[in-house]
Amino acid sequence: MTDCQGDCDGAKSPMELYEELTAQGSKVRSLKTMKAEKAEVDAAVQLLLKLKVDYKKVTGQDYKAGCPPENSAIPDNGPAADGADDEDTVDPWNVSTTNAKGVDYDKLIVRFGSNKIDQELVDRIEKVSGQRPHHFLRRGIFFSHRDMHQVLDAYEKQKSFYLYTGRGPSSEAMHVGHLIPFIFTKWLQDVFDIPLVIQLTDDEKYLWKDLTLEQCHRYAVENAKDIIACGFDVNKTFIFSDLDYMGACPEFYRNVVKVQKHVTFNQVKGIFGFTDSDCIGKISFPAIQAAPSFSSSFPKIFGSRTDIQCLIPCAIDQDPYFRMTRDVAPRIGYPKPALLHSTFFPALQGAQTKMSASDANSSIFLTDTPKQIKNKVNKHAFSGGKDTVEEHRKYGGNPDVDVSFMYLTFFLEDDEQLEKIKQDYSSGSLLTGELKKLLIETLQPMIAKHQERRKQISDETVQQFMTPRPLNFNL
Ligand code: TRP
Repeated sequence: MTDCQGDCDGAKSPMELYEELTAQGSKVRSLKTMKAEKAEVDAAVQLLLKLKVDYKKVTGQDYKAGCPPENSAIPDNGPAADGADDEDTVDPWNVSTTNAKGVDYDKLIVRFGSNKIDQELVDRIEKVSGQRPHHFLRRGIFFSHRDMHQVLDAYEKQKSFYLYTGRGPSSEAMHVGHLIPFIFTKWLQDVFDIPLVIQLTDDEKYLWKDLTLEQCHRYAVENAKDIIACGFDVNKTFIFSDLDYMGACPEFYRNVVKVQKHVTFNQVKGIFGFTDSDCIGKISFPAIQAAPSFSSSFPKIFGSRTDIQCLIPCAIDQDPYFRMTRDVAPRIGYPKPALLHSTFFPALQGAQTKMSASDANSSIFLTDTPKQIKNKVNKHAFSGGKDTVEEHRKYGGNPDVDVSFMYLTFFLEDDEQLEKIKQDYSSGSLLTGELKKLLIETLQPMIAKHQERRKQISDETVQQFMTPRPLNFNL
């Protein structure tokens, strides 16, 4: 890196400028994350803005994170990796906003260049699947997509597809938020009757966290039990640990290498904010999360077919991986995976961030007892109610920032009941304590049932799910 701080104009090539800009963007972001002094952040932002002006002068184009000059490789608008604006932070490692209602998801759709799941698409899913849409779709919890119409067009012409989702096993403890993509994926598997692959990225967690390989692998197997307890059909589901499967399946590794060859260090810096001091394992990891998007990574399931479309249900923070994947796919001769994105499951303390498995009080864990659930909700669930009963009765509560109400939109299936709760809370006839009680009564049996199902899952069952094998699927 040059240290002339942008004062020596002139001889820089577009690529040099681009690299400088990308590095400066990372610097601004890390200063912000580290909550550096304002003056220092401002100076770094000033330099960033100056570099952007220079870049435009030299290339005639606006700087776009992830899109190097001359080779506009990633077609989507990358996240605001330059950090120069005050937008919500959403990437695979950080989710935060200053808004109590949570992340502005409509803005995110524009920024990420995805599409809104509108009523028309929900209606179409109903028509094609012949089933009432899941309440996650009806309520906008899955709110954004890429190419879902194309998947449905093909399905209508008897062309099948497969599902791919995953989980990074960073601890033994999973919380209710982790179940959202799996609950929805199970519904998709049932209504479309298609195969599903689930990637457990124990390698990723080893690279990012202070854990041993053995720990990560063990968490993968433990998490697999919670995933299986969501009700997946063993004849249609393959769950794999990267640490096991990468070595067991040459076809998978070949696809990893193909992706690695087609993505530059500059691109992953732009997309993921990697820096020169990140270990090379992290830098190449995105190729491993990309590979399951291609049917030829699973020869036992799909034979030598390379053309079977993949649909990925995931939380929106995983989108950067798949923007990269979609960019590479046509260049290595594969179809682009389609995506369905969900919103985040808010922390008990409020929708400014998502639940974290490392903070026991921010989450309802799948291992919590009825008593723990009750205490956590009563003590920690952020309330949109008023300070006193009198005021609450008079002015009503605000369900838009109330975490108990938000959780009910995730887990209370009855639309009418939910609407009534919303009305009553807003009008003030339903008090915060009563709302919390409704949530507690929804969560307790739900978690208890999950624990019951999990207990029934033997090591042999896990083994079965995790063995590479043919699935019930007609090519
Ligand atoms: N990176 C994800 C995590 O940390 C795990 C993951 C791998 C994933 N492949 C995926 C999530 C596909 C959604 C879809 O949790």
